Amino acid sequence: MTTTVLPATHPLNTDTASSWLVAAYRGERPAMTPVWFMRQAGRSLPEYRELRVGRRMLDACLNPELAAEITLQPVRRHGVDAAIFFSDIVVPLKLAGVPVEIEPGVGPVFPAPTDTPEAVDALIAGHPAAALEQALDPIRTAVRTTVAGLRLLQGARDPLIGFAGAPFTLAAYLVAGRPSKDHLAARAMIHRHPDAWARLLGWCADLSGRFLRAQVLAGASAVQLFDSWAGSLPAATYAAHVAPASAITFDAVRDLVDETGRRVPLVHFAVGAGELYGVLDLDVDCIGVDWRTPLDQAWSRMPSRPSVQGNLDPALLGAPWPVLRDAVDDVLRRGESAPGHVFNLGHGVPPGTDPEVLTRIVDHVHSR
Ligand code: CP3
Repeated sequence: MTTTVLPATHPLNTDTASSWLVAAYRGERPAMTPVWFMRQAGRSLPEYRELRVGRRMLDACLNPELAAEITLQPVRRHGVDAAIFFSDIVVPLKLAGVPVEIEPGVGPVFPAPTDTPEAVDALIAGHPAAALEQALDPIRTAVRTTVAGLRLLQGARDPLIGFAGAPFTLAAYLVAGRPSKDHLAARAMIHRHPDAWARLLGWCADLSGRFLRAQVLAGASAVQLFDSWAGSLPAATYAAHVAPASAITFDAVRDLVDETGRRVPLVHFAVGAGELYGVLDLDVDCIGVDWRTPLDQAWSRMPSRPSVQGNLDPALLGAPWPVLRDAVDDVLRRGESAPGHVFNLGHGVPPGTDPEVLTRIVDHVHSR
């Protein structure tokens, strides 16, 4: 594969290649285990809730100053070892002109489901993925502003993680037109209309890939793909009808390397993937594990033996400190089997979490 060297001013070339996060993603054991939390920028923080008053979620995502400020909030407060870009998996759909809103307490909602071959073709014809390039400007500005803010913080080496939704996660929302518990509409479409399904997934992969690439070129030092509903699929269905599209999304950034020739770290996080690790190992640097499977067991099922990320059960965040501390220590111990380990939760921070508990976890992980 031909590679593209990131500019000399890119954070991976100036600061972040020596960060604990990037080192751990690349299979090394830095001085301390790096820690960040999925959904660290969000409703558990009073300073976030204050900024969001009277603003719709997607309007906040497309306001570069605001998105950058929200991204920095948890880094300042908790001393986590990475920022994750404040945005949402449906932002590329919105920027491509697809009518979508995020309803509070519900999630992404569309005016109508895309559940027939005709609806799929109309969606794709009406919203060419290439049209996204210009529309991504507010994202590029927000990433640049965030990276400038990270450089001003103490230590000044914290990387920004870019992210996108996996094609299956986006398609599951599009096909049902809204969140669903079992993703039955999407799972049914795979088998009833396999060709239309493949076209829909290819289009979603293209959108998510462009979203990722824009974030890296603007300054993100790693990327994570959120394959949130992968666990609803049998392994054979995932392998045949979903994994190829997730691989295409990663392909959009695989060529990007720093000046030493090392690629931008790729992270794949799938929820409920205990049965899938054998088939979802898509040549990435790190696989995020949810709270259900102990890290060492999950890792032993991954053919390429990547680094791992995770996986404290968010249900423990309200437990008495000695119970929580033992659970954190257990995760750290199990993470030792992999070449690199990035401490995280096994899914996002629940909105009602006491933020002081998160800070205490960061301090504890760093004290070990
Ligand atoms: O991790 C972070 O801090 C970065 C920001 C981030 C958000 N969404 C912000 C957000 C990330 C990485 C996401 C990804 C995302 N969005 C996923 C994949 C991760 C996962 O949880 O499995 C999914 C499935 C979505 C879709 C989505 N967006 C849902 C289901 C919701 C919740 C709706 C609700 O109100 O309960 C959202 C909204 C959303 N995305 C919020 C945030 C901070 C909450 C909105 C608010 O503050 O009003």
